[in-house]
Amino acid sequence: MATRKQIVAGNWKMNGSKELLSQMSETLNSESFQADVIIFPPAMLIEQAVEKGLTVGTQSVSEYKEGAYTGEIQASLASSLGATYTLVGHSERRALYGESDEVVANKFAHAQEQGLTPILCVGETEEERESEQTEEVVARQINAVIEKLGIAALANSVIAYEPVWAIGTGKTASPEQAQAVHKFIRNLLSEQDEQIAKTLRLLYGGSVNEKNSELLFAQEDIDGGLIGGASLKPENFLSICKSAK
Ligand code: G3P
Repeated sequence: MATRKQIVAGNWKMNGSKELLSQMSETLNSESFQADVIIFPPAMLIEQAVEKGLTVGTQSVSEYKEGAYTGEIQASLASSLGATYTLVGHSERRALYGESDEVVANKFAHAQEQGLTPILCVGETEEERESEQTEEVVARQINAVIEKLGIAALANSVIAYEPVWAIGTGKTASPEQAQAVHKFIRNLLSEQDEQIAKTLRLLYGGSVNEKNSELLFAQEDIDGGLIGGASLKPENFLSICKSAK
């Protein structure tokens, strides 16, 4: 089995504070982990998080380099402040801000141009799962990037499978459910590039907590997690980080 270093990523969303950042950095900096640990705080805290020695990502970036895009996050500035990753296509960006597969692919491309490693978020809604469209949806979301950039672009990226019905609901996908979709994604990629399929890290996200993370992360094709609510509690997040081997 390919050995892939796991990732535990904490997506704070529009939560947190300078005080939480101080607590979190003290908690994480006093430990060592087998996994890569990445924090995605609100953009205003990126520079301080980097200064505290954390590995940092931004939760989204504009698809444009610069210009009259009020409120958008500039990838080049995030990179200059020390961010090294960015989420693209999070389900909340897709659902609440109308980000299409094309916009997500454009953001993915621009992020890489500016030196950020994109974490491509994909996942189906409850309705899509119930109508057995999970694989079709996930494949469509991934292929939007491949069709724009080619499979080689995925070599410098991460994919996060986040079933929308598990995000913020406490209804975590079972290890078997998550593994099945991760295996599908890896097989999808292997049809085009075996090496990328073997090495690309696939994260699971959706109600991961300190009680379920170990079993999820032990699955063959799950290489860690993208954590929402539990990433705002230092001790809980620490437990999750320690459970990644
Ligand atoms: O990006 C991670 C997030 O969508 C998962 O949220 O609160 O279900 O862990 P949560």
